Amino acid sequence: MTAPATAAHHGACHGAFPALRPRRNRYDAWTRRLVAENHLSVDDLIWPIFVMEGRETVTEVASMPGVQRVTLDRLEAHVAPAAELGIPALALFPVTPAEKKNAEGTEARNPENLMCRASRLLKEKFPQIGLVGDVALDPYTDHGHDGVIRDGYVDNDESLEVLTAQAVVQSQAGIDVIAPSDMMDGRVGAIRAALDARGLIHTRIMSYAAKYASAFYGPFRDAVGSGGALKGDKKTYQMDPANSDEALREVALDLSEGADMVMVKPGMPYLDIIQRVKERFAVPTFAYQVSGEYAMIMAAVRNGWLDHDKAMLESLLAFKRAGANGVLTYFAIEAARRMRAG
Ligand code: PBG
Repeated sequence: MTAPATAAHHGACHGAFPALRPRRNRYDAWTRRLVAENHLSVDDLIWPIFVMEGRETVTEVASMPGVQRVTLDRLEAHVAPAAELGIPALALFPVTPAEKKNAEGTEARNPENLMCRASRLLKEKFPQIGLVGDVALDPYTDHGHDGVIRDGYVDNDESLEVLTAQAVVQSQAGIDVIAPSDMMDGRVGAIRAALDARGLIHTRIMSYAAKYASAFYGPFRDAVGSGGALKGDKKTYQMDPANSDEALREVALDLSEGADMVMVKPGMPYLDIIQRVKERFAVPTFAYQVSGEYAMIMAAVRNGWLDHDKAMLESLLAFKRAGANGVLTYFAIEAARRMRAG
């Protein structure tokens, strides 16, 4: 609602006035702009991209309206708007064909895998854009888990070997930021050591330090085709949604092992975690607005129950208010467009 054009009704009030009127600072748009404590900008956005094998194909992710999977020959055109809008970084996710998946996730360490080919291509076409590479085995394992399984358990230390090899091939292919999302113990230190041993000292690590075993990843598993295959759940390695102190211990460990930036995931149901992490550690902290959060907003928008732009921008600003430095979001392109339009 806009401020009244005339002040005719001023002074009509009798009796005790409120001594303090916080509404004055909300009176008109310029005041609201002036006192705003947090701002969202294009600099805050990381845009996730799904790449797949094949040629000349773009497919829609049914549960994530507006999100697409693209073949590599379509990647340049797909990413061009992000470059044009000035989005600082992309996060790459591969849709691995079933025949390249196995129990050990060996395709993860293949220097010619989809991620590596996509990364080389993007670095050549868009050298100014940062590339974030997810490190976990779930796109490559036929059981859909993030590590290798021994005696029915995701084996920590054996998984580390594959994960460090995966991080090295990604970094060598041009990935700027390794983002381990697997939640194995000790992976940040193991990856840092493996990168440094190969002279890859500039490769940053953004650890998914506090990643919860969440119901909100469903549409992502559909997008990369790891959902149907997943046997059981990820509760023996991803965090229990009941816990908060534990997130601080995870972040402390990852920082001590050399993480340059940390991530909290999912986003909106875990704003309290973002705030605690930022307050305690004062390090670059990111939020992942995950597939299920995107799907919820889009489903309501499609039913006419929420306004797309308003819900999108409010959800993203909330991460800034909680203390996040930036947000990995499927809305990145739309949010950048909307902010440019003013
Ligand atoms: C891989 C990974 C997942 C997501 C990002 N990286 C899935 C999972 O942990 O099962 C989910 C992202 C999203 O839901 O948007 N470990």
